[in-house]
Amino acid sequence: MAGDSVIIVEVGPRDGLQNEKVQVATQDKLALIGQLADAGLSHIEATAFVSPRWVPQMADHDAVMRGAGRRPGVTYSALVPNEKGAEAALAAGARALAVFTAASESFCRKNTNCSIAESIERFRSVMVLAERAGVPVRGYVSCALDCPYEGEVTPEAVAAVAADLLALGCNEIALSDTLGRGTPERTAAMVEAALRRAPATMLAGHFHDTSGRAIANVAAAWELGLRVFDGSVSGLGGCPYAPGAAGNLATERLVAHFETKGIATGIDRARLDAVAEWIAARTASGAQ
Ligand code: HMG
Ligand code: MG
Repeated sequence: MAGDSVIIVEVGPRDGLQNEKVQVATQDKLALIGQLADAGLSHIEATAFVSPRWVPQMADHDAVMRGAGRRPGVTYSALVPNEKGAEAALAAGARALAVFTAASESFCRKNTNCSIAESIERFRSVMVLAERAGVPVRGYVSCALDCPYEGEVTPEAVAAVAADLLALGCNEIALSDTLGRGTPERTAAMVEAALRRAPATMLAGHFHDTSGRAIANVAAAWELGLRVFDGSVSGLGGCPYAPGAAGNLATERLVAHFETKGIATGIDRARLDAVAEWIAARTASGAQ
């Protein structure tokens, strides 16, 4: 493993703050994004251009995206559910987009008010806008292991949705354990199924840490060749439409894990720890 490197995608400003009880001030979100870039994070999901009625915590998406900074070497991305979101995100300066669907019909409907097939249809116009703007689009597959409404999800269901997103033109698929109940064994089976439809270079791991097994799941996915993993500073977050989903995997833990293995992250751990403390003090459920 030594000599290898990993890309860490920071999703705290979006996946973290979308589920915090307190509404973090826009200025604090911008300060957070700036500090994350200072700590060496090169991929930062800054906000979500979703309906403010559905996720009020992301209602200031326009101001956040416009103010996020344009530091060279840092990709600031935005989560979008449809054409309206994509248009607004690009107008606000997003240089990468992320669409999201699920491997479970019930979750997809609760989260975005449509079926999986309808969500893929919605993304077609997002892809057209992204291509015109020359920006890449990541595709999230939620409930890649468990669904809060349907229970265990089969690896084949995940692989099929991943294949649809790739066919659409996504450059990366984030296999997402939304509930954080997965085990390394089930993670490996799910990743293996996805690898039958996509190369490891196009897959990323997005693990929530509800059961404390996210690092073990990352290690299982790493063994199968994945080299991109998501973290949320201070372990902020969860999904408002996934009851029972606690925090995301903390970026600090992810960085510590890879450093222990001698794998370069490009991230300054002391600075990252300071950011984690800073944001924890401004949210209700951040790791203290
Ligand atoms: P809908 O109500 O079916 O949408 O919601 P609609 O098309 O009928 O429109 C209703 C209203 O929403 C209209 O406004 C639209 O203009 C507006 P009105 O005319 O009533 O005033 N609208 C929008 N406003 C802002 N931005 C938009 C937008 N689109 C429509 N983009 C919709 C459908 C998809 C919009 C809604 O369900 C939604 O916003 N859902 C987002 C839910 C969400 O953000 N969940 C959390 C993120 S996913 C996640 O956390 C999982 C992930 O981390 C991976 C993992 O861990 O699994 C990615
Ligand atoms: Mg998530």
